[in-house]
Amino acid sequence: MIHYKPAIAGSVLATVLASPLLAQTEIKIGYALAPDSHYGVAAERWEEVVEERTDGRYEFRHFPSSGLGGEREVIEGVQLGTVEATIVSSGTLANFVEDTGIFDIPFLFRDLGHARRVLDGPIGQDILAKFEDAGLIALAWGEQGFRHITNNRNQIASPDDIDGLRLRTMENPIHLTAFETLGAAPTPMAWPEVIGALQQGTIDGQENPLSVIVSANLNDVQEYLTISGHVYSPAMLLISPVVWDSMSEEDREVFREGATEAVAAMRGFVDDVEESGLETLRERGMDVAELSAEDRAAFQEALEPAYEEYYETYDRDVIEAIIATE
Ligand code: PAF
Repeated sequence: MIHYKPAIAGSVLATVLASPLLAQTEIKIGYALAPDSHYGVAAERWEEVVEERTDGRYEFRHFPSSGLGGEREVIEGVQLGTVEATIVSSGTLANFVEDTGIFDIPFLFRDLGHARRVLDGPIGQDILAKFEDAGLIALAWGEQGFRHITNNRNQIASPDDIDGLRLRTMENPIHLTAFETLGAAPTPMAWPEVIGALQQGTIDGQENPLSVIVSANLNDVQEYLTISGHVYSPAMLLISPVVWDSMSEEDREVFREGATEAVAAMRGFVDDVEESGLETLRERGMDVAELSAEDRAAFQEALEPAYEEYYETYDRDVIEAIIATE
């Protein structure tokens, strides 16, 4: 038996097809931190720009606080197209594009301005372009700030103070080498497991920038904060090639503009927390100390064997070009 559907008049059909509801594309965006973090602020700005400039043809659905899993899982979802967008740290990125790891070398950048100029310049932009071969569209470098060590065992002033410290690192080979070289007992671990592991005491500490320590309330589970600034922590805004391939060039341009504005919002947030974060964490009861220039030099000296390893993986000329960037 054949069922006949009532015919829809041509003009009605045209209206239905043009309806924003029908034409909307959902952008599931996953990130590891809360909506009021530097990631949340950036994701919101990205959404505002895209929704405004495409008349709402794209609708962002946010999955903050690792709602879609750890960063590695989310990046894999972006490759497959089950997740459309993400903002991630450089934690696992070197496992997708090895060259990214060059920015994870300890004590490479002098300050935030130096890091931003390198990432926004040819060296950073060349690395972004390499993500296409890894099945990812990398739109921009964001940032988290410089990473510092927190722990529950003791305050840190010299490499001896982290001897045997059970320290969670990101799933990042460069960081792992650094902490092994310094004599700590590093454990790579996905972020969603970290707070529980600190609560249970299976690890003593972790390292992250002030933006993360403040927004994730690490003061609830950590006693000591050492302002070590041992490594800069970049972030990246990624889009799935599946949704990217379905977009017009005009829409891609809007996503790029949105990413640029999201990065500006993220950097603004990091600038603010770099100013206020120490005081906030002191007020929340953390024991805070800062490495002096001499202390930092002692860490750099202890890291010499790690630098030799990095030079085997990364082009020394590029490292020197980064250091020489004004
Ligand atoms: O430590 C990490 O894994 C990252 O810095 C975090 C907290 C997931 C933010 O990207």
